[in-house]
Amino acid sequence: MSTTNPGADEPCDVAIVGICDGAALSPTAALIDSEIGGAIGRLRDAGKLSSDEGETMLLAGPGAGGPELVLVIGLGSLKSDHESNRELAFRLTSQSVRSLVSKSHKKLFIALGEYFDASAHDSVVAGALYALEGQSIYRTKAVINVPETLVFSSIEQDAVTRGTIIGQSVNLTRRLVNEPASAIYPESLADLVSDLASDNGIECEVWDETKLAEENCRSILAVGGGSDRPPRLVILRYNGGETGEAPVALVGKGVTFDSGGLSLKPSDGMIDMKCDMGGAATVIGAINAIAKLGIKRNVIAVCGLAENMVSGSSYKLGDVIKTRSGKTIEILNTDAEGRVVLADALNVAIGFKPSAMVDLATLTGACMVALGNEVAGLMTNDQSVADQVFAAAKVEGELLWQLPMLPLYDEKVKSKVADIKNIGEGRWGGAITAAKFLENFVDKTPWVHLDIAGPAFSDSPKPFRDAGATGVYVKTLVRWIESL
Ligand code: BES
Ligand code: MN
Ligand code: ZN
Repeated sequence: MSTTNPGADEPCDVAIVGICDGAALSPTAALIDSEIGGAIGRLRDAGKLSSDEGETMLLAGPGAGGPELVLVIGLGSLKSDHESNRELAFRLTSQSVRSLVSKSHKKLFIALGEYFDASAHDSVVAGALYALEGQSIYRTKAVINVPETLVFSSIEQDAVTRGTIIGQSVNLTRRLVNEPASAIYPESLADLVSDLASDNGIECEVWDETKLAEENCRSILAVGGGSDRPPRLVILRYNGGETGEAPVALVGKGVTFDSGGLSLKPSDGMIDMKCDMGGAATVIGAINAIAKLGIKRNVIAVCGLAENMVSGSSYKLGDVIKTRSGKTIEILNTDAEGRVVLADALNVAIGFKPSAMVDLATLTGACMVALGNEVAGLMTNDQSVADQVFAAAKVEGELLWQLPMLPLYDEKVKSKVADIKNIGEGRWGGAITAAKFLENFVDKTPWVHLDIAGPAFSDSPKPFRDAGATGVYVKTLVRWIESL
């Protein structure tokens, strides 16, 4: 599949044009409208074609060298300086493409760029690509028919390139999450990432179980201990900045399957637990985009990869683990494994003396209880870095909400036998007590924790995306690092 931006008016299967409230058709839409005898204008005047956001109508095109079909999508009341322009461009372009791909089309001509400010043009391209990834990867009959070519009118080549990189990186994250745990396990994920790194000029180091033991990563080894698939730690280094400049660190929870361990989850709670490496997948998608875009910053990514399983070698309730940092943790629930994996991963990351660190983890059901499944919880020890991340998320229209890290919560993770325990007091404030646990492993590093348990994976589809992995926060991370 290729993305290009040549001149308008070439043969294609479908032309996608927009209409918005009370505004004239864009030049390309007007041209296509004239080729179909003014149908768009007429239907609209007759009240049969609405410009409401996300309304679509498929019309017959002129054919014979022009488009065979014309998809009209309502863009609502678009203003060129609208702050959610990028999110809207991404979402509505994705929705329009998604509405077509149940059928096979070789070439789509996407004429939505001219409705949006140039600053949102890469989002049009990324949104178009977003529509082409979904969870139906093992259907023998394709559910998503990927067109051979996407042509974008009125979008500069730079924006096509950038949008393609971002769209593909978000889709990489989604693909990694959507793959089942029997395909993506610590070793296979580490191999895949190491190939990806060598294609992109990223240094990659993989710690296997022997190296993890040498490095005292006993908490990663504990969580992975119950599985036939041994754990891994992946360190990626992208050196786009000055030599000697402190890196930014991204850390991801990569639990490739979370059965709960001996604190076994019921079947309903386990069904989607292939998604529990969503934090790692987001970090991998982000550093892939950052390297491909050539962003001039030093970035390191650390992913703690383990499979949380049940066997005679599972870690147990009451176990005390001496983490790589030296701090001891008491295990009171083996299903609170993400924070245990992250304890060592965060400790490895701060060894690179990062100027700032963001971790992403599908960490707690409690965060979903608090915020629902479209908003990630943000917890921090440094409000200024948090504000940078909020600013980046706002530009991309990705949703974050801050939860308090008051000192009073520290008490709730204190252990009677070790330094800390891996659950709080009862269920209350579970997202925050998890973050408080993590805070023990970041020292003074300015740090932001994103609990993405809700938004990383979705049970239900939306008009602009399939159900399953969402790839959310890849764009936020890229923009944040670019903004530094
Ligand atoms: N991976 C889960 C959290 C999760 C739940 C992610 C639902 C995505 C969707 C995590 O490891 C977990 O099991 N957390 C426990 C913690 C508890 C035992 C303190 C939870 O949230 O129930
Ligand atoms: Mn768990
Ligand atoms: Zn988990």
